[in-house]
Amino acid sequence: MTETTIKVRESGPYLVRGPLTLTDADGNVYAAAGENVALCRCGGSATKPFCDGSHRSNGFHATERAPVAE
Ligand code: FES
Repeated sequence: MTETTIKVRESGPYLVRGPLTLTDADGNVYAAAGENVALCRCGGSATKPFCDGSHRSNGFHATERAPVAE
């Protein structure tokens, strides 16, 4: 079984890799999702929920990291 992972890109999108089903609020499936998807988290994409690269020019800045266990 393949694991689906989500990577939070620094000042960029969520990169989803692995089997997934992406739906809108009504449950309709985005056919373009495939198994590698970049989801916008800056709010600036013209193609939401997908990233269109706008984060590079709209001043989006996010550098959070997961807490590291000691
Ligand atoms: S994260 Fe890329 S356009 Fe929003």
